[in-house]
Amino acid sequence: MGLANLVRPGTDEALARVAAKSNIPYALSTAASTRMERIIELAPSHTWFQLYVGRDPLITDDLVRRAKDAGISTLLVTVDIPAPGKRVRDLTNGLTVPLRPSLKGVIDLALHPRWLLQAIGGGTPRFESLEQYSPAGGGPMAHATYVAQHLSSGQLDWDTINRIRGLWPHHMVIKGILHPEDARRALKAGVNGIVVSNHGGRQLDAAPASIEVLPSIREAVGQHVSILLDSGIRSGDDIVRALAAGADFVLIGRPFLYGVAALGIEQGPGRAIQIFLDEMRNTLVHLGCRTVGDLDGSHLWQSPDGPVHQSRAVGGAHHLQK
Ligand SMILES: Cc1cc2nc3c(=O)[nH]c(=O)nc-3n(C[C@H](O)[C@H](O)[C@H](O)COP(=O)(O)O)c2cc1C
Repeated sequence: MGLANLVRPGTDEALARVAAKSNIPYALSTAASTRMERIIELAPSHTWFQLYVGRDPLITDDLVRRAKDAGISTLLVTVDIPAPGKRVRDLTNGLTVPLRPSLKGVIDLALHPRWLLQAIGGGTPRFESLEQYSPAGGGPMAHATYVAQHLSSGQLDWDTINRIRGLWPHHMVIKGILHPEDARRALKAGVNGIVVSNHGGRQLDAAPASIEVLPSIREAVGQHVSILLDSGIRSGDDIVRALAAGADFVLIGRPFLYGVAALGIEQGPGRAIQIFLDEMRNTLVHLGCRTVGDLDGSHLWQSPDGPVHQSRAVGGAHHLQK
């Protein structure tokens, strides 16, 4: 996630360290506050690089080259931000480029002095992987404006995906797919995996929930393609539901930031992982499964007008868990 260090200074590094220790991948954003070359030092075998395709193809291609030179194993290409979405809450809160400070914002800062002191101590978070492309001499706001413009290309097409595929010799995963036809086209472009994601509902307001479209995407691509799902995984049983509905993996974003916000960079990320694991184990026990490998569609019950629930208990008796 971009600018995670706004939550607390050092968040990117803490997440990378805990990911390596827990043997799970950490996807560093193009818009992260920490340079990719630094993160790979902390998690050499667990760092993925999330690529935003920007306005200038030379910068996009150079980011791909740097990721390759740094030894990153997996490129995660996000395709659901051809331009920033209209985020009404950000507009209301003045979280825009440039920032629009408001009385409400000043009061909010005054009510969180510990956070404020930490943030001041950490310095203004920048987009470090993009810093070298920014015109020299600008301050943090000039840099943020430059990045916002670069990322608002308004253009993203399959030729671009094919070009990036040609530059990247390792695993490439495409993030932000919600339609079976796009999933098929991604496979034709030679990707190794698909992230079914609506960007956490932060882009197109009318986009469907990823869990709703997951079964149709699984059907479109078959059983031998890795499907990852994100947007709304908040508990271990959400993970179990996603796996039973056809995902091979999930990606988790905001809960890690919540962990860092609540418990700090040392305790927060590990505690978040522990909560997810405990809840997953508990849900599996309730479903009568030994491992996630035992999960399949028969563990789901789909209400005609409601969300996806777990349904199977020990012995196959169908009873509603949630
Ligand atoms: C603060 C914030 C920053 C994000 N930055 C990025 C980003 O730089 N690149 C990206 O592909 N997705 C980004 N996302 C989207 C997340 O990767 C993820 O798709 C989304 O938050 C849904 O997952 P979640 O519900 O577990 O948070 C961001 C989300 C948030 C909340």
